[in-house]
Amino acid sequence: MSSHSLIIFDTTLRDGEQSPGASMTRDEKVRIAKVLERMRVDVIEAGFPIASPDDFEAVRAVAVTVEDSRVCGLARALEKDIERAGEALKEAVAPRIHTFIATSPIHMQRKLRMQPEQVIEQAVKAVKWARNRVDDVEFSAEDAGRSDPDFLCRIIEAAIDAGASTINIPDTVGYNLPEQFGHLIATLIERVTNADKAVFSVHCHNDLGLAVANSLSAVRQGARQVECTINGLGERAGNAALEEVVMAVRTRQDVFDCDTRIDTTQIVPASRLVSTITGFPVQPNKAIVGANAFAHESGIHQDGVLKSRETYEIMRAEDVGWSANRIVLGKHSGRNAFRTRLKELGIEFDSEEELNAAFARFKELADKKHEIFDEDLQALVSETEAANRERHALVSMRVCSETGETPLARVTLSIDGAERQAEATGGGPVDATFRAIEAIVESGARLKLYSVNAITSGTDAQGEVTVRLEKAGRIVNGQGADTDIVIASARAYLNALDKLMLEAGRAHPQFSHV
Ligand code: KIV
Ligand code: ZN
Repeated sequence: MSSHSLIIFDTTLRDGEQSPGASMTRDEKVRIAKVLERMRVDVIEAGFPIASPDDFEAVRAVAVTVEDSRVCGLARALEKDIERAGEALKEAVAPRIHTFIATSPIHMQRKLRMQPEQVIEQAVKAVKWARNRVDDVEFSAEDAGRSDPDFLCRIIEAAIDAGASTINIPDTVGYNLPEQFGHLIATLIERVTNADKAVFSVHCHNDLGLAVANSLSAVRQGARQVECTINGLGERAGNAALEEVVMAVRTRQDVFDCDTRIDTTQIVPASRLVSTITGFPVQPNKAIVGANAFAHESGIHQDGVLKSRETYEIMRAEDVGWSANRIVLGKHSGRNAFRTRLKELGIEFDSEEELNAAFARFKELADKKHEIFDEDLQALVSETEAANRERHALVSMRVCSETGETPLARVTLSIDGAERQAEATGGGPVDATFRAIEAIVESGARLKLYSVNAITSGTDAQGEVTVRLEKAGRIVNGQGADTDIVIASARAYLNALDKLMLEAGRAHPQFSHV
């Protein structure tokens, strides 16, 4: 193991959440944060506290829960943002404020409408405001990848003098190429006169599919923090994928002079959890965490692997958390076994009532389904949490689908406690169900995506449905799981409607500074 450490800064809960529709509730964020902590992520960026009261509460809840990782809150270079971030992080064991301002000509002129000197002045003020609240301050030069290196040197030097101990260089729009980005990092570390007083960090977006390559190139040139997300979730094409960065550095210790502290066996469980919560499926051929990442299809490969695993495998599936024996519970499992397995998955309940509600759902599921897998448990807990705060609840439904007949659905909902019923026909049973729901709620939302995924294998598997709805420019994803996919679809639609209501009036960190 190398003596230098590479800091892993996970921003799944902040930049990851900026993917349209990937918003998470406070409890979901806490669940993911616990898994990240168990994975030994160094810094968890929990959100953007000024964005909304829900975001503030989520950062606060993560700050209160997490003990072994640093907890970070994002703030524009504005006093009100920094105050709010400081407040949300008040109870964190190791808080960090991450403040940023754009430094590229296009952002300074067109977005900020500020002169370069004013931007430096604002950055210095922001770092000082943050240092008045916490000891650990990170400064980011937004759109550094398209900024003038001379200007970057000046603003970075000023930020370090003002008290920033981490300097983050984002390729905000994913424009850079690996060699060029590595060269930028080397230049900054060499030319910034006080560079030795800060850790240089990188934050790469994946618009050209180069986020991981750019991050690794920067690490080779001296960057000692990488900002990344589970499954590469994030704004537009996403951020650098944590699992790829970590496993590249771990696997290629012959070229990297540093390594991370990450417990890599937690990677697959974390990937599954993030996918279940956000409704963003992982593509089968995704590196490290895709279902086919360690599958050998061709006879030659299978033969080679059987003779000697190293012939075709550069990593071991079990080292990243793929386990051979995934059957966990069944019909006869008791409450204790249920609680213990959930705890192993990083899921704990705040109260006995919540545990009881989840256990009741587990028993219902176990009646329908012989073997219960970890993925089933994660979906079940998400369903239980959604049920705790749902405004649109499914009371009952009946769907008729017959060859030669038009499918018909009758749905009864409870909306804020009042029962309403409607019937509708549609092109198929799911279409009829959605139309019946709309006949009751009249949300006016537009369906943007509908997908069904079998959570596990077998015809008794639960179907996990994702429904993406759009209304007035806001996009949300709803999830529902059930062994009956039409019921799962109705639940997913109602979950999306709940989120549409919850999400009103949320600010985006990168829209404007002033
Ligand atoms: O991509 C970006 O520039 C960011 C900053 C806020 C760090 O997400
Ligand atoms: Zn970003």
